[in-house]
Amino acid sequence: MKAVAKAPANIALIKFWGKRDENLRLPKNSSISINLSEIFTVTSVDFSGGLDDDGVVIDGIKVDGKEKERVITHIDRIRKMAGIKSKVAVSSRNNFPKGTGLASSASGFAALSLAATKAAGLELDERYLSILARLGSGSACRSIPDGWVEWKEGDTSDKSYAHSLFGTNYWDVCDVVVVVGSFGKKVSSTEGHALVESSPFYTSRIKGMKQKIADIKRAIKSKDFTKMGEILETEAINMHVVMMTSGPSLFYWSPKTLEVMLLVQEWRGNGLESYFTIDAGPNVHLICMKKDVNKLKMKLSMIEGIEKIIVNGVANGARLV
Ligand code: DP6
Repeated sequence: MKAVAKAPANIALIKFWGKRDENLRLPKNSSISINLSEIFTVTSVDFSGGLDDDGVVIDGIKVDGKEKERVITHIDRIRKMAGIKSKVAVSSRNNFPKGTGLASSASGFAALSLAATKAAGLELDERYLSILARLGSGSACRSIPDGWVEWKEGDTSDKSYAHSLFGTNYWDVCDVVVVVGSFGKKVSSTEGHALVESSPFYTSRIKGMKQKIADIKRAIKSKDFTKMGEILETEAINMHVVMMTSGPSLFYWSPKTLEVMLLVQEWRGNGLESYFTIDAGPNVHLICMKKDVNKLKMKLSMIEGIEKIIVNGVANGARLV
């Protein structure tokens, strides 16, 4: 009745921003991501009994309020599926700071879904595990399958899940995460998703999505790094324009974020090829080929005020440990 699972964070190359159904976390569009090798969550779930109440510990701290409620709501889904009533002890550890836009909800809910279903005696296949993880946090469904992943939007809960496009060894692509700040976000991504319709640019974003997904899949399939990079960088800017033009306006960038973005474009002009993408936080992800990682690290080390650089390869999805 106890299980431990590890799940990676993932970085979306084509983003999930806006839901067609908030409760079921059905996205307005499909998205594409890679799992990250060095940013992950390890979660243990114990239904062994003897407890008076549910307990949730994250990074060594007992959590209460909304944070606990979101975890327990997810545990309740699993208790219902398994037909059990036992109280639970959940303990989760991230190897990176929470709330920095490094996707802690994705790795967190993916690890929680796998550990909790196993601890409850359920054996879900990858597709149903991905659906379950999606109900906890949309992007978590992409941390279940291995490697290069597509989350198909689907029009019903059963059809909205992630699957692997290519495995971890498919292509030597890396994600160099430039941590420029580890302060908590002002507006969570869950709150941000709910504002999309207020941006005048959202309709045109959605209109171009099917084509964009088809184009990036083609670029990945033919290992056309430049094409993939151009699409993913424009896509990140597109999502942030929607965020900035929502009411209220969401600005996730810090001055350092913009400094790194502009430098990356300058370096590219001089032959060092990498492309940036940014989630709902100030940190910048640089997608590059493995052969360029050291050159990039050297360039980055010359920028003042960068807190940390994390070099990721493409990783497997959630696993029991
Ligand atoms: C900007 O999956 O965190 O990282 O379902 O409300 O938990 P919830 O949202 P979440 O949104 C992720 C937003 C994003 C883009 C992406 O990862 O695709």
